[in-house]
Amino acid sequence: MKVAVFSAQRYDRFFLDEANRLRAAQGFELDYQEAALSAQTVALARGCDAVCVFVNDRLDAPVLEALAGAGVRAVLLRCAGFNNVDVAAAARLGLFVARVPAYSPEAVAEHAIALIMTLNRHTHRAYNRVREGNFALDGLLGMTLHGKSVGLIGTGKIGLATARILKGIGCRLLGADPFPSEEFKTLGDYVGLDELLARADIVSLHCPLTEDTRHMIDARALAAMKSGAMLVNTSRGALVDTQAVIAALKSRHLGSLAIDVYEQESSLFFRDRSDDIIDDDVFQRLMTFPNVLVTGHQGFFTAEALREIAAVTLDNLDAFATGRPCENILPPTR
Ligand SMILES: NC(=O)c1ccc[n+]([C@@H]2O[C@H](COP(=O)([O-])OP(=O)(O)OC[C@H]3O[C@@H](n4cnc5c(N)ncnc54)[C@H](O)[C@@H]3O)[C@@H](O)[C@H]2O)c1
Repeated sequence: MKVAVFSAQRYDRFFLDEANRLRAAQGFELDYQEAALSAQTVALARGCDAVCVFVNDRLDAPVLEALAGAGVRAVLLRCAGFNNVDVAAAARLGLFVARVPAYSPEAVAEHAIALIMTLNRHTHRAYNRVREGNFALDGLLGMTLHGKSVGLIGTGKIGLATARILKGIGCRLLGADPFPSEEFKTLGDYVGLDELLARADIVSLHCPLTEDTRHMIDARALAAMKSGAMLVNTSRGALVDTQAVIAALKSRHLGSLAIDVYEQESSLFFRDRSDDIIDDDVFQRLMTFPNVLVTGHQGFFTAEALREIAAVTLDNLDAFATGRPCENILPPTR
C-alpha cells in the first residue's frame, strides 16, 4: 500500500519510518512530499492508495474529488483537529478518513502553561537581557498565579490536562463547554461563556474550530473580558478574530496575548522564513507588541506525541488495508 505523506518534515520522516519499521505486519511504502496538499499539489498523490496529511493541508471538496479521481481511497490525518477536512464531501466520495484523536493532551497542555508562565513572568525578555549584561527588573513585573481565576473554553482532553496543572499551581478554574465533564467538576466550576469572560484573569481556548466556534473571541467577547486579562490560544487560529485582538491590545483593554496558532498560519508556520519578507501585515503588527508571545504551532511537538501520532496513523492505515474496524474514523462519535 503506497501513501503520499504531505507537509513532511524531517521529524515526520523519522517517527513514521521508525513506526513503519516496528510494524510486525508488513510495512507500507511511504512517499514523502515537502509540499502541503492543495489543489496545486494534489497530482503528487497519483498512484497512491492513501494520503497522510497535517493541520495546514487543504482537504476541501475539490481536493478530495481530485484525490478520489486519482485513485486515492484513504486520508490519514496526523492530528486530532479536522477543521481542514470537508467531512461530508469525503463521505459522499466514499473515502476512509481517520485521525489521531489523542496523542498527548499533556503535551499541548504543558505548552499552554509554558506560554502563560513565559508571558506572565517575561522570561523570554529576561533571557535576552541577562545575556547582554542587563540585570534591571523594570518591565519584568508579573502576577502571582496562585489564587488567580483561569477560564478554560473547552474542557475535553487538553482542557482537562491544562486544568489539572493549573489546579496544582493554585488557580481557581472556570470552565465553559456544551458537554460538561465530571472530572472538571472536581477541579473547578462550570459557568456560562459571558461569566467566564468577565471573571477570568486568564482565558485559555481548548475547543475545536467549527462553524459555530469560528471567531468566538471577537470584539464583543474581548470587550466582555476583564481589563488587563491574558488570552491564550493553543487550539486553532480562527477561534480568534485577529483584527479585533489587535484593536483590544491597542486600546490596552486586553492585557496580553499568547498564541501557538494563527488564523493565516498555513503560509507561515512549519518552515524557515527568516530570509523572506513576510507580507502578512496583520501577523507583523502582532509581532510589534511587547505583550504578545507567538510560537509556531508547536504544542504537539514532543517526542512522545510524535511517536504516538506515527504509530496510530499507521495503525489507522492498517485498519483500512485489512478492513478491520477503526475507532478513529471521521466523523467522530462521542
Ligand atoms: N497546538 C497544538 O499543537 C494542538 C495539538 C492538538 C490539538 N490542538 C487543538 O486542541 C483542540 C482541543 O483538543 P482536545 O484533544 O482537547 O479535543 P476534545 O474533543 O477532547 O475536547 C474539545 C472540547 O471542546 C468542547 N467544545 C466544543 N464546542 C465548544 C464551544 N462552543 N465552547 C466550549 N467548548 C466547546 C467539546 O465539547 C470538547 O469537550 C483541538 O480541536 C485542536 O484544534 C492543538
